[in-house]
Amino acid sequence: MLKYYLCRKLNMSTHTYISDLKKAIGLTVTLKGWVSNKREGKGIAFIVLRDGSGYCQCVVTEENSSALNLEIAQSTTLETSVEITGLVLADEKQIGGVEVQVNTINIVGESIDYPIAKKEHGIEFLMDQRHLWLRSTRQWAIMKIRNTIIFSIHKYFQSEGFVQMDAPIFTGNACEGTSTLFETDFYGAPAYLSQSGQLYGEAMAMAMGKIYTFGPTFRAEKSKTRRHLSEFWMIEPEMAFYDIFQNMDCIEGMLQTVIKDVLDQCQEELKTIGRDTAMLESSLKPFPRMTYDDAVSIIKGEKSVNGIYSIQLLEGEQKAAEAKTAEIDAEIADKEQQINSGGLKKGQINFFTTKIIQLKQERADLEEDLRNIPTWLESARNFTYGDDFGGSDETVLTKLFDSPVMVYDWPHEVKAFYLKRNPNDARFARGVDVLAPEGYGEIVGGGERETNVESLVEKINEHELPMEAFEWYLDLRRYGSVPHSGFGLGLERVVTWICKLKHVRESIPFPRMYGRLTP
Ligand code: 4AD
Ligand code: MG
Repeated sequence: MLKYYLCRKLNMSTHTYISDLKKAIGLTVTLKGWVSNKREGKGIAFIVLRDGSGYCQCVVTEENSSALNLEIAQSTTLETSVEITGLVLADEKQIGGVEVQVNTINIVGESIDYPIAKKEHGIEFLMDQRHLWLRSTRQWAIMKIRNTIIFSIHKYFQSEGFVQMDAPIFTGNACEGTSTLFETDFYGAPAYLSQSGQLYGEAMAMAMGKIYTFGPTFRAEKSKTRRHLSEFWMIEPEMAFYDIFQNMDCIEGMLQTVIKDVLDQCQEELKTIGRDTAMLESSLKPFPRMTYDDAVSIIKGEKSVNGIYSIQLLEGEQKAAEAKTAEIDAEIADKEQQINSGGLKKGQINFFTTKIIQLKQERADLEEDLRNIPTWLESARNFTYGDDFGGSDETVLTKLFDSPVMVYDWPHEVKAFYLKRNPNDARFARGVDVLAPEGYGEIVGGGERETNVESLVEKINEHELPMEAFEWYLDLRRYGSVPHSGFGLGLERVVTWICKLKHVRESIPFPRMYGRLTP
């Protein structure tokens, strides 16, 4: 026991994490990490060290260290691993509010010709280098936010009295439709990688009251959209004695806990990835809830939201984007002309050049809007009542709100077999989708479950699912059936929205997608 205690004490005093440096001002510490950036001047080297817990600037000079150490520091390369001892000084201008005055530096592992340079790389190259790309600042920040989201989800459910239980990954039958299953071999018999743990979740809820699963799920569509992963993590709570409205309360409570925790704990990371947090902050008020019928009227521009109609909004956005593009073009032309006129100093030229790059990026984003808006307008004008929502419909609808919205009571034909019908209007199934703003679309799908055995049997036949595989599921209705509800939250979809990423592939350490199985 004493030995264990001493070891722990020793470990803690021999190695400090960057995230703890603010507590170590005035002390000499040992840091262990990787060189994420390096600059050098005459007689001085600045190393930005990263250790996973954070970043800090380490300054090496001959007078505070030695000629040899300065030489080592000056010759280190990107991603070399090092052990540094030095004095921690307060410096509010530096990342993390500290700077380390280096006494000694030792190389732990060399890094020669690190493939990811500071310059821009194409996305396919970065995806091939994902094992290294994860070390970059932006990816680090996204993974930190992902971690906060995961912890926050557990915190929410645990504090609400849910029991975490796991559903199997090998399954004998489909849950969300047969066309999107990955088939595998289970001792000579076909088995499928689970699309959803829900059916097992329902069984577990009848045993434990309120449960949630947290595990990988698989979808085999050959989809190349920016929202689709073949393997993603889903959180699936299931609650006995909850109706669809209590289900929506639970979804809102969980998502708002997550958003609040990210805002409270990840300000630095959000800043690193350039996430404007206004939409996250406005998502802390109740999410609008509407039926499918109302959502369709809003999409089609027949019903307004606070006096605003979808079609007019889109037409206005198109005009504004056109005007802004013209404005940017004029500004770029003006800056280029000034640079070419020859009368500028070097500093001014650099300044204008940087500005032109920024303007061109802004223009590229506007061009994307200008390409998309006509598609959105067309799908809004031509939406056929009774259809499921596509990505464009979700974008049009959410544009009218400044938080996620919940759409419930869907035409039963477009939803899964297990959803309960609205007792007052059997045309509708009690499903609920949560759609994120800013064009991110569905992040949660769920609903109240059918409890009537006859209705379920009818639906299972209608969906041409093998009845014998569902006998156990029907047992849940034969023995002490109760009203119950649940939902599935796609972790990566939420990370993608909260971080405002362009593509879901950056929201998971090693994405699995159509056409991508490595690294
Ligand atoms: O809407 P889905 O298909 O619903 C279910 O699987 C239900 N059984 C959940 C339940 O009620 N327990 O999937 C739920 C969520 C979606 O809203 C989306 O966030 C995410 O899972 N999702 C995906 N995320 C990434 N890539 C994919 N291919 C996804 N498919 C669904
Ligand atoms: Mg869905």
